[in-house]
Amino acid sequence: MKDIIEIIKTRRSIRNYKEDPVPDEEIKFLIDCARYAPSGMNMQPWSFLVIKNKEVIQKLSENGKKAMIPLAEQMVDDPRKAPGFISFLKTKGTSLFYNAPLLVIILGNKKSLTADWDCAMAAQNMMLAAHSIGIGSCWIGFAMPALMDEKILKELGAPSGYKAVAPLIFGYPRGETAMLIRNEPEVKWLR
Ligand SMILES: Cc1cc2nc3c(=O)[nH]c(=O)nc-3n(C[C@H](O)[C@H](O)[C@H](O)COP(=O)(O)O)c2cc1C
Repeated sequence: MKDIIEIIKTRRSIRNYKEDPVPDEEIKFLIDCARYAPSGMNMQPWSFLVIKNKEVIQKLSENGKKAMIPLAEQMVDDPRKAPGFISFLKTKGTSLFYNAPLLVIILGNKKSLTADWDCAMAAQNMMLAAHSIGIGSCWIGFAMPALMDEKILKELGAPSGYKAVAPLIFGYPRGETAMLIRNEPEVKWLR
């Protein structure tokens, strides 16, 4: 276990993984850390879908890429600006989840006003806890267009009344990932 500040400052989004599976005990540890996150009125409006099955992850990746194409084309007004991304989405076999051995989708209870923020808090706990034990992670927001499809979510086994909030991949990092530049934020002080 490393110091919390060191963990916060050295976590990176990992996009290259070893094939080694994340043991169930470690997954339980990450979910245990998630449930200590703060939540509005302590509602804890989260539920966790743990997906270790490679075929299921790859099928969701294909559905996710298909659902992302129109959005990506809208986001990128000039296709010459991000040719790699659009062609990545259009190529069969490329993985939206970077071939990570584990996908955890944090679901939020639709009845809760604060579910999105609560689940994001839980996600950060999981990603920091993972980093503290040598497990890499990355939030895959590009999976959201597919996960907003009720049929896909139901097929994955999501309980009714829940929506996908945070699709997170985990696994053992292959190689090093350099720190990205952090901007100086605008800070206004009133004294
Ligand atoms: C809400 C959210 C959605 C993200 N979606 C993706 C994604 O779909 N694919 C991806 O490769 N990275 C995704 N990321 C990771 C960011 O690109 C990454 O956090 C950012 O570039 C900063 O890098 P770092 O996490 O290594 O510090 C996402 C991050 C967040 C917080």
